[in-house]
Amino acid sequence: MDKNIAENIVYIGCDDPSLDLFEGQYPLTGGVSYNSYVILDEKVAVLDTADGRVSEQWFENLKAALGTRTPDYLIVSHMEPDHARNIGRFLEAYPAAKIVGNAKTFTLFPQYFSEDISERKVLVKEGDELSLGAHTLVFVMAPMVHWPEVMMAYEKKEKILFSADAFGKFGTINFAEDWTDEARRYYCNIVGKYGPSVQTVLKKAAGLDIATICPLHGPVLKENLGYYIGKYDLWSRYEPEEKGVVVAYASIHGNTAQAARILRDQLEARGERTVLLDLARTDVAQAVAEVFRFDRLALACSTYDANLFPCMQDFLSHLKAKAVQNRTVGIVENGSWAPAAGRLMSEMLASMKNMTVVEPLVTVRGAVKEDTVQALGALADALHAAGK
Ligand SMILES: Cc1cc2nc3c(=O)[nH]c(=O)nc-3n(C[C@H](O)[C@H](O)[C@H](O)COP(=O)(O)O)c2cc1C
Ligand SMILES: [Fe+2]
Ligand SMILES: [Fe+2]
Repeated sequence: MDKNIAENIVYIGCDDPSLDLFEGQYPLTGGVSYNSYVILDEKVAVLDTADGRVSEQWFENLKAALGTRTPDYLIVSHMEPDHARNIGRFLEAYPAAKIVGNAKTFTLFPQYFSEDISERKVLVKEGDELSLGAHTLVFVMAPMVHWPEVMMAYEKKEKILFSADAFGKFGTINFAEDWTDEARRYYCNIVGKYGPSVQTVLKKAAGLDIATICPLHGPVLKENLGYYIGKYDLWSRYEPEEKGVVVAYASIHGNTAQAARILRDQLEARGERTVLLDLARTDVAQAVAEVFRFDRLALACSTYDANLFPCMQDFLSHLKAKAVQNRTVGIVENGSWAPAAGRLMSEMLASMKNMTVVEPLVTVRGAVKEDTVQALGALADALHAAGK
């Protein structure tokens, strides 16, 4: 990536290629980047620091970008440690620099740092402007996307939106894979619960002429911005991107898995796009992201000690926690003496918003028999009809 985002606007972020779990739970295969930027004008502004895992590299990048200059401002768009960890060291290194944040930023600040910043605070609110010379930053509050203090900054001269975590993705900065899948997994799991807050910010962003989006993770976005904004609009309204059925199963001995595969085949025979997920072997955050993507879902689960098999329980808890809604769902249960999985899954879905369960609820009593295949066909018909 070209580190010169625009004239006198420099990328000083760092890659963390070996991090295994982001935020302690999301598996990474291509690492992550902690993005940070400097605007060199009459005044010098640094936009966010970086994670403690890359402190040395970040300070090196900062010094290289500054040359002989020193920063006048540190803009803090987010107090989460993956971006804020180095604020304390920054304040020490540059005693003349002021720290720019909103009221909530400065509430969180002393919870993480002990430096006295009473003389160094620049308190901003919605619409406030900070002139750096030729460049001007306008602050756009983004509360609960996904922390309360989050704010974006719009640079008027170059039409850049510094978007905080929004529009970020997993993967180091030059990781050459498509934006969508890893941005979806990031969004749904980290921000997913806060769709209405994202909608509020998207409405404000619609009033800005944006040429470039600079997020806090992943690549700087310069082209096709409508595509990325469109994805955020769908995800934050809990509307699917595509027609298709996610068939997610939890099976102890493989019979429920077989039923799920038969259902998948029957859906495909009806022309449906499908994604088959063995929940015991699929990271739950990835499974959640697939549900955000497609319009329908089929759940197949063994009854386990009068409960759901744990990976299905965990999956449904995650879907509920991320406020997943507006999906059509088919249910397959298995149980050899007192099947309960179907009722338990139905109850969980009923506690979520606008989840429509279609008939029939298919019950398998151990192994898949001819009547199960018939019933799965009827369920495939119902799911197919719901997708039209
Ligand atoms: C540890 C264990 C607990 C089970 N608990 C129940 C139960 O509470 N009620 C029931 O009807 N079947 C129960 N079963 C039977 C399973 O539901 C049945 O074997 C399974 O659903 C068959 O499908 P599978 O091969 O996909 O696991 C249990 C099976 C095991 C191994
Ligand atoms: Fe964050
Ligand atoms: Fe972040």
